[in-house]
Amino acid sequence: MTTPVYLVVDMELVKHILTKDFNHFMDRGVYTNEKDDPIVNPATPRERRVEAHLELAELVEILARLLVMLTYIPVLSLSFIALHRKPYILYTGDGNSLTMDEIIAQSFVFFVAGYETSATTMTFALFELATRPEIQDRVRKEIKVVLRRHNDQITYDSLSELTYLTQVINETLRVYSPARFLQRQCLKNYKVPGEDVVVEKGTSVIISIKGIHYDKDYYKNPTVFDPERFNEENNKNMNSYVHLPFGQGPRACIARFGIMQVKVGLTCLLRKCKVSLNEKTKLPLKMSPNSQVSAAEGGIWLNLEDI
Ligand code: HEM
Repeated sequence: MTTPVYLVVDMELVKHILTKDFNHFMDRGVYTNEKDDPIVNPATPRERRVEAHLELAELVEILARLLVMLTYIPVLSLSFIALHRKPYILYTGDGNSLTMDEIIAQSFVFFVAGYETSATTMTFALFELATRPEIQDRVRKEIKVVLRRHNDQITYDSLSELTYLTQVINETLRVYSPARFLQRQCLKNYKVPGEDVVVEKGTSVIISIKGIHYDKDYYKNPTVFDPERFNEENNKNMNSYVHLPFGQGPRACIARFGIMQVKVGLTCLLRKCKVSLNEKTKLPLKMSPNSQVSAAEGGIWLNLEDI
């Protein structure tokens, strides 16, 4: 059985759907069984879930700071503790407290949404660094210089100073965005601004991240891996809707946390090891059509050498 899908290609309309007219497109329309599977999707009215996500966004910086000191699972445990201790986190906009199912569901989403996406980003970044030694050397040099200024400590502040590494990660996320598309469901009939078109309630709306990231109108030579696209100068002029690895608008990812997580992994590895490509990696890379998150067929195999 098939259902019609509204594929958005106009950048202004992308902005409307993800942000300006968000009240028409608050949900993703992914099937979940709220009654029997409350952990995946707590039984709460949609608006309340959105409020809860917005409240949780305030946690991002605290969690990112914790992350640099702890491994992933203790962070989740700590986020549980934080949820219990901070009253403003326990309360949604309507003044009601979150239920235990909702708290568990939020933590579960953190785990599911954060693990494979971050691992995939690190893998593709290392693949590019393995094939471009000059970029790898520059990243390592930056790590050494910055960490020296911070007594060799990997902290939230020291990671924030790794600007070239951030460029490399942003370019990795452009070329190999773990999510290939964003999905929304139209919740009430929507008249497309400036067009004689109405998107009907219930219609699935798809925004192709891959399509936008490889569009020559937004990126010159889009197949070329070039971290300079995200240098300070270019960042100033960039339309934030043409770089969508974390989505956009109120349903976007808590991206700062994802970026921090990837930075921790890459910094720990690159300060101690040189990375090169193992011959088991099949070139040119071919993306697997079956995996939900971007992945290379046959995997990416790397050699690590102590330095
Ligand atoms: C590089 C790593 C990551 C990437 C590329 C990524 C990407 C995404 C994308 C594309 C979405 C959908 C956004 C939209 O529909 O507009 C999303 C949602 C989400 N992500 Fe991430 N993510 C990453 C890491 C993380 C981490 C580390 C966490 C938490 C620990 C996380 C938590 C979430 C949550 C909670 C949502 C759902 C937001 C909502 O529905 O309100 N993500 N992510």
